[in-house]
Amino acid sequence: MAILPILRYPDPRLHKVARPVQSVDARIRTLVTDMIATMYSADGIGLAATQVDVHERVVVIDVSETRDQPIVLINPETLWLSEEKHQGDEGCLSVPGIYERVERSAAVRVQALDADGVPRVIEAEGLLAVCIQHEMDHLMGRVFVDYLSALKRGRIKTKLLKQEKEARQAPVNA
Ligand code: NI
Repeated sequence: MAILPILRYPDPRLHKVARPVQSVDARIRTLVTDMIATMYSADGIGLAATQVDVHERVVVIDVSETRDQPIVLINPETLWLSEEKHQGDEGCLSVPGIYERVERSAAVRVQALDADGVPRVIEAEGLLAVCIQHEMDHLMGRVFVDYLSALKRGRIKTKLLKQEKEARQAPVNA
């Protein structure tokens, strides 16, 4: 089990489009295990393979309070999105410290393979529905800040680049 480094916005690799997983083999199972460990370690509720610089259609999610009910979506495809919309504040492990209002479908139905390669249909509403849409966007190279105005996005970019620069210049006390 490994904790994988998470790409940070505005890293251009976050905009790569992921390709489908060819087979759910040992390599993919290891990736899934590492992604779940990385998500828990970063205190996130979802992680897409794109965020750990693997450009294949793999997503892990856990919206449970107890943090012990991971959902694995391999090659997820949207079957249905509700016309009813929901607006909520979103954050992202690749955009640390930024929370902005995004509109999503209130409910969603997707099909995907699970960690054993078994096809599943998942129906979700509320936080899980938002999370599924957010993570599936990552696989298409879309980050939630892409929904914001260019002005807002520019400010976020500047802020994160500044933070990154400061982190690089900070003295190492170890
Ligand atoms: Ni995200």
